[in-house]
Amino acid sequence: MAQVVAVANQKGGVAKTTTVHSLGFALAERGRRVLLVDLDPQACLTFSLGFDPDGLDRSVHDCFVRRAKAADVRREVPGVDGLSVLPATIDLAGSEVHLLTRTGREHALARALAPLLPDVDVVLVDCPPSLGVLTINGLTAASEVLVPLQCEALSHRGVGQLLDTIADVRMFANERLAVRGVVATMFDERTRHGREILAAVEERYGLAVLEPPVRKSVRFAEAPARGRCILQHAPRSAGAEAYRALAAALDRAWTLLAAAPPRRRAGDAGGSGAGGAGARGGGTRG
Ligand SMILES: Nc1ncnc2c1ncn2[C@@H]1O[C@H](COP(=O)(O)OP(=O)(O)O)[C@@H](O)[C@H]1O
Ligand SMILES: [Mg+2]
Repeated sequence: MAQVVAVANQKGGVAKTTTVHSLGFALAERGRRVLLVDLDPQACLTFSLGFDPDGLDRSVHDCFVRRAKAADVRREVPGVDGLSVLPATIDLAGSEVHLLTRTGREHALARALAPLLPDVDVVLVDCPPSLGVLTINGLTAASEVLVPLQCEALSHRGVGQLLDTIADVRMFANERLAVRGVVATMFDERTRHGREILAAVEERYGLAVLEPPVRKSVRFAEAPARGRCILQHAPRSAGAEAYRALAAALDRAWTLLAAAPPRRRAGDAGGSGAGGAGARGGGTRG
């Protein structure tokens, strides 16, 4: 069964979109069939995959509002075997309003994705920078959450709020939702500060921190304008290697999960989720 991963943090500019694109590419490189979902009306993921959001006749919005089939909205990413996307357009901003008036609004994405799941291994959902109905849809459709966290002072403000939202989604819409952990982004090796922030997040929120952290590099900013991710733009860079290592760790964890007896699967690992493969350590809930 496909792993559906929501990449969420209500803070903007923490590398959610970069993480979805780079991990998606790295997993496709490993031979996985990967579907990316752009849930952000700003459509940055769609754009960075080489599509012009203004020129698309259909987007994930049509799945929500016009009940279009996801299979008809899905696009193969040119030049990358096994990678496809449900693109966003600015129309998606209207989905928020539309969904708010609908019964079962938080299940719209899960419903749309269901027919595609038998044909993919991994779905990565790029959530918008809010905890509104679109992000709730991402969390409701997901088996697990990844939280990109920029390693800067105050960057963890808001993590508690995100975890509260995840707890609500578990209670009301998706009880199997697990938290895979934090992906440390824009990490600065030269200061002790980054490691201190990660240790604090681990201890305070009981969140696993996945290894390795993704270091800060200007190569990241150059890639999206060319319709590429870091693995295409600078394949041997530290950033590309970090996302490859994260993809390998996730792949291993999912393989273990698939082999585990059903009772031990993601979701019953309590507050902090899906266990530690790829993670630096458990941490206790503070
Ligand atoms: N490791 C990194 N080092 C430096 N810049 C990065 C890194 N990861 C992402 N960026 C840049 O940071 C900006 C915000 O990233 P983005 O993925 O769009 O964040 P979000 O989706 O959370 O808003 C982009 O310009 C992106 O290229
Ligand atoms: Mg984004």
